[in-house]
Amino acid sequence: PSLEKDFLPLYYGWFLSKRSSENLRKTGQAFLDELASIKVFRKEAKHFGQPSEDPKAKIDLTGYFVKRPPGVLHCTTKFTDYGKAPGSDDYAQQEAVKSSYGKAFFLTISALFITPRTAGARVELSDQQMLLWPGDVDVLQPAVSLPKGSRAHITLGCASGVEAVQTGIDLLEFVKLEKAGNKGEEIGEIGGGRLLSYGNGLWMLQLSKKIEVRCVFSGYYG
Ligand code: 2AM
Repeated sequence: PSLEKDFLPLYYGWFLSKRSSENLRKTGQAFLDELASIKVFRKEAKHFGQPSEDPKAKIDLTGYFVKRPPGVLHCTTKFTDYGKAPGSDDYAQQEAVKSSYGKAFFLTISALFITPRTAGARVELSDQQMLLWPGDVDVLQPAVSLPKGSRAHITLGCASGVEAVQTGIDLLEFVKLEKAGNKGEEIGEIGGGRLLSYGNGLWMLQLSKKIEVRCVFSGYYG
């Protein structure tokens, strides 16, 4: 037995390889560019910080989602806050977490989404990857529990003043709508997939070809 308590990371997650990270950033950027050029989307200007509803005025989404994650992109599994977050020790001590630490994975991305707060990629977890997913994070406060893994995502950007933690909450909002039978309004096919609008500035691109990204499961100490 060690005299010192294990020093836990800020968070655990899958960290994309440099190449996968660069490719996903480019894909996300292409999505923002295409969305900004679509006529029906320009009517959404008020949700994205622009007063004008002039259909000719292009919304600058790249400038809007100014807070982009530094370094390689990642998919957070458990935010442990150096051991201070509830459930941290239990998570860190799980056999699956210990045996997967430093191991390679392929994550599957099924959709890209934006809201007036965040831009992200939706991750579809395999059964094996689900073993690393905490049991307490797929909850939309105050009390909406969603299927395990619903929150799995990669943050691509946040609006000014918005913290990254919001991306997962926003994805849960989409899942809640889906669960309630709201399939979104189909806008049409654009590069990469089927574009859906859920109202209030919530947009999702369901990829016609899912993206596989190469990752390593690890902890981030900051
Ligand atoms: P993200 O997973 O949506 O990107 C460091 O802040 C990382 O931990 C970010 O990637 C962030 O969000 C995630 N994070 C921060 N606070 C969190 C929280 N309370 N719950 C879950 N994830 C959190």
